[in-house]
Amino acid sequence: MPHDHPHDRPIARLRALRSVELHTPALTESADFYAEVWGLEPVERDTDATWLRGTGEEHHVLHLTRADRNGLGRISFAVATPAEIDEAARRLLARGIVPVAGPGPLDQVGGGYGLRFTDPEGRLIELSAQTHAVTPRGRDGAVPVGVTHTVLNTTDIDAAVAFYTSVLGLRVSDWSEHQMAFLRCNADHHCIAFNQAEWASLNHVAYEMPSVDHFMRGLGRLRHHGITPQWGPGRHGPGNNTFSYFTDPAGLVCEYTSEVAQIVEDAWIAKVWRRTPDLSDLWGTAGPPSPAIRRHMAGIPDPGPLTTTPEEVTA
Ligand SMILES: [Fe+2]
Repeated sequence: MPHDHPHDRPIARLRALRSVELHTPALTESADFYAEVWGLEPVERDTDATWLRGTGEEHHVLHLTRADRNGLGRISFAVATPAEIDEAARRLLARGIVPVAGPGPLDQVGGGYGLRFTDPEGRLIELSAQTHAVTPRGRDGAVPVGVTHTVLNTTDIDAAVAFYTSVLGLRVSDWSEHQMAFLRCNADHHCIAFNQAEWASLNHVAYEMPSVDHFMRGLGRLRHHGITPQWGPGRHGPGNNTFSYFTDPAGLVCEYTSEVAQIVEDAWIAKVWRRTPDLSDLWGTAGPPSPAIRRHMAGIPDPGPLTTTPEEVTA
């Protein structure tokens, strides 16, 4: 029977994807892009980082950090209480995973009580509770509410899914053949998806638009900035969400999306989607992704933010 032993249980109940940290060698250009074009709002900046919010309730949804090369900094999930953070730390230790920070107050912009640890491919995961409240903005603008999912390239999709379901308690919503797995932590069809790839890296980060009308108006605003989608607009089969993909100044892929399928827990039955054009592109508007956007989605090998690169060893 599962759940007989404490170390068999997920470490916490994740409520939502809060924010993503991206490393960028083009901090000024990236911050300008996300603030002036993409529709986020800077909440704080220093010489080496910028924090930006959407119209939703998170203090920040994107944290840009200056780095030598692009990559994924951290993925932050919401947990309900500090007590759950402390319990998560105990359950991590029972599994032989030592947090790299916490449990304790997070000395960072946006505050919170949390912990951080790395997954088997070196990604930095943060769980936090009691982050700073901000006033929600109106949802009328054609700008993102927040980050709604991130897709991660993995060299072992079965191991990644096993870790994120058993340790983090995410549930599999659907598979796209044995190529992608879509995982949820709340009613949204997916907050994390894994893509089987040649190396671990960030595939893309998706920002929620309040409706398909806001989504299209957002594309219109980008068009006035001279930016057209590198793939899209379209609607995916798995998740039923709309999509349009772009590349930021660091070469990282960002997506506008809306209307992701809402899952009724215990009623949902996961499916395996075949990777055919009619299922990948329900509207028939997007066609296949271009070689350029596929290259950006593959990214560069990313051993994780805590891994020292060979160049840094010899420097
Ligand atoms: Fe996506």
